[in-house]
Amino acid sequence: MAKTYTIAVLPGDGTGPEVTAEALKVLRAAAQKFDFKLNFSTYDFGGERYKRTGETISENGIEELRRHDAIFLGAIGHPDVKPGVLEKGILLRVRFALDQYINLRPVKLYPNVETPLKDKGPADIDFVVVRENSEGLYAGAGGVLKKGTLDEVAVQESINTRKGVERCLRYSFDYCRKRNKAKKLTLCGKTNVLTFAFDLWERTFYEVAREYPEIKTDYAHVDATCMWMVKNPEWFDVIVTDNMFGDIITDLGAMVQGGMGIAAGGNINPEGVSMFEPIGGSAPKYTGQNVINPMAAIMAGQMLLENLREDRAAQAVEKAVVKVVSEKLKNMAAGKMGYSTTQVGDLVAGLI
Ligand code: IPM
Ligand code: MN
Repeated sequence: MAKTYTIAVLPGDGTGPEVTAEALKVLRAAAQKFDFKLNFSTYDFGGERYKRTGETISENGIEELRRHDAIFLGAIGHPDVKPGVLEKGILLRVRFALDQYINLRPVKLYPNVETPLKDKGPADIDFVVVRENSEGLYAGAGGVLKKGTLDEVAVQESINTRKGVERCLRYSFDYCRKRNKAKKLTLCGKTNVLTFAFDLWERTFYEVAREYPEIKTDYAHVDATCMWMVKNPEWFDVIVTDNMFGDIITDLGAMVQGGMGIAAGGNINPEGVSMFEPIGGSAPKYTGQNVINPMAAIMAGQMLLENLREDRAAQAVEKAVVKVVSEKLKNMAAGKMGYSTTQVGDLVAGLI
């Protein structure tokens, strides 16, 4: 009997539905080829629904998502909705409610894809960022006093728990071992200033490292990490960092690997339900024009397949993507690919 997986699909806002359609096209082709079934159920959480109902995502909605094998998210963010409402109300809400404590973001430059880094190629740009995804400055701790007055005080606290830090580090060591490349794990922090938070990270890092004698440990401050990502990206294999630093360095990473058109990520709960998304956002100005690059969404689908342990299917999707980006697409940017959104999806699906 063919295996069946249930996938919750949240196409979301802006160009989210367009890139989602292409990712699903490729996933369907992979399922057919490798003999498993994907049952997609679509949910309309996003800006339009919020405008209609005033609701981002309900407790019931979360419970529904929890019942699937994986979640695919297109994009969240609507020009008519105040920034933060949908991001916090949907994206961060799902990450937190389903305890997706890892945000896995590969930074890999494919052949013939343009990078802004002079003299760097695919051999130099191939690393993975593990971003802690459930704590830090994203925990929502803090508050405000005397709002709107000249004496206003705003506090935003970074929450770092031993448990949260340790599970993220353990995942990173395991991932580095399984990846089996340079076997080097870099902790990206700020031990010289954030002497409470990163003291905990650093101590835990070297403690856990003792259980992984074959993994080389390395440390870089976050500012230096940005510098090395541009100057010597080949030094990195796996980088682990906190939520805020991970958010920032992965946008830099996306640019280094050829832009938002290709960068994908996974919000992972290794013991639960994970959610995969292109990291580029809803790009409202390109909505409905069939010009947005769906490769990031397709690669998010590829990560979803890996998460389902459909490794052969995942490898086939990556191979097809590499062929299309290297041999067909003129550029990774919206409107400059030389193909429409749907044509790019057809090209990849056709190669599976
Ligand atoms: C990301 C995004 C989100 C984040 C926003 C939209 C809340 O920037 O996935 O990197 O900050 O995590
Ligand atoms: Mn971000």
